Amino acid sequence: MKILYAASEARPFIASGGLADVAGSLPKAIRSKQHQCRVVLPLYGTMKPEDRAKLTFITSFQLQLSWRSQYCGIFQANEQGVVYYFIDNEYYFKRGSLYGHGDDAERFAFFSKAILEMLNYIDYEPDIINCNDWQTALVPVFLRCFYMGSERHRRLKTVFTIHNIQYQGQFGMDILGYILGLPSYQAGILEYGGCINYMKGAIETCDMVTTVSPTYAQEILTPWFAHGLDGLLRDRQYKLCGIVNGIDLASNDPATDKAMFHNFSVDSVGERIENKRALQRQMGLEESNAMLIGIVTRLVSHKGVDLIQYIFEDMMKLDVQIVLLGSGDQVYEDFFRAMQGRYPGRVSSTIGFIPDLAKKIYGSTDAFLMPSKSEPCGLAQMIALRYGSIPIIRETGGLKDTIKDLGGEDGNGFTFQSYNAHDMLGAIERCKNLYDQPGKWHDAVKHALQCDFSWDKSADAYIEMYHRVLES
Ligand code: GLC
Repeated sequence: MKILYAASEARPFIASGGLADVAGSLPKAIRSKQHQCRVVLPLYGTMKPEDRAKLTFITSFQLQLSWRSQYCGIFQANEQGVVYYFIDNEYYFKRGSLYGHGDDAERFAFFSKAILEMLNYIDYEPDIINCNDWQTALVPVFLRCFYMGSERHRRLKTVFTIHNIQYQGQFGMDILGYILGLPSYQAGILEYGGCINYMKGAIETCDMVTTVSPTYAQEILTPWFAHGLDGLLRDRQYKLCGIVNGIDLASNDPATDKAMFHNFSVDSVGERIENKRALQRQMGLEESNAMLIGIVTRLVSHKGVDLIQYIFEDMMKLDVQIVLLGSGDQVYEDFFRAMQGRYPGRVSSTIGFIPDLAKKIYGSTDAFLMPSKSEPCGLAQMIALRYGSIPIIRETGGLKDTIKDLGGEDGNGFTFQSYNAHDMLGAIERCKNLYDQPGKWHDAVKHALQCDFSWDKSADAYIEMYHRVLES
């Protein structure tokens, strides 16, 4: 089986969120199961020079996008056995940031069309293109509208994976002809609520819609989670499924990770305390035995930051310390800065995105707080476990599928159900209760370090889903 994995970001080349982790590790896992999987990305100007140097030029052609004829270069790189293709056009992709430009509709229409056109020029004929999120959502749309007469494309199947339904790629109706080059009689494929909606187009035209956890696949059938697309998804439920993400074990290993102050494994779990002490020192926290809670998040409302804000004072009445790393909405950034000022030696707030510090937090904290309002999958809770920090999570999306309460069987964290600040406080208190029983806590941390969130099982599920798609 030959898969082409189309994404707007992938590690190690370019990353701004969880999609990059998945696109950087799932293809490797699929390949390890004796199937072919290659990745295609835009060639962004912000790629690090040392990564840019790994690329070799393959070919170029002119791409038609409505009335435009645009240069399209194809580059290739080989990274840990996986072939990556890069779509080059400096006008579209040589910019200071990945997304958020006024012409994003056109930039990612170009990218999606280039992916299909590229197949006429490269020596790889995929059976399936697995697209991800709105940036590649036009691949199945263009496939249906422009490529059905092409021998190379006729049997090609498409899977569309939703990593977050909140970002749908919504634009004015005028782009239909002017940018996409589609006639008005095909507007129905993309039109939703008076706009062009790229994600809607993909849901309509792809062979399978997947999302990144089984629970999220259920949740997006309801209005609370679906940001307007629940009705459409209920109609298309026959082709919707959820497969939970895995994490890359090699690059997330406390035994070898250079970011650790002190490397440790399940056999030397007692030494983990050295990381806690070092982090406390580095972040200006008292070197006490208080339960150290880590928070690494984008500071936006759907991450549940308002719950933390609501019970912050009550939480500080417990013997706990907080170390936060995140950036996002000003109101939350200001709040955490203020809390550091109010609780010197007990609260440390770093505003920013610092991967090395994130790892230190996973490997040094006792508990990891992630009370998301919605969470398609979430990777941080799995990485936290891998580094021995016990997750405290709200039961939603992938958080619910990966974390079970330690009060029951086979627990690996603490969970709460309703989006309620005091329910969250209750989970924190229960966690603290266990923390105060050193023997039981030691067992919980040991168990955390043994949880298996490798891609192994999920890659099997993807392959099984791909087989179903090919048979359909
Ligand atoms: C998005 C989701 C996150 C998920 C990630 C990778 O960032 O918000 O929950 O883990 O994609 O699929």
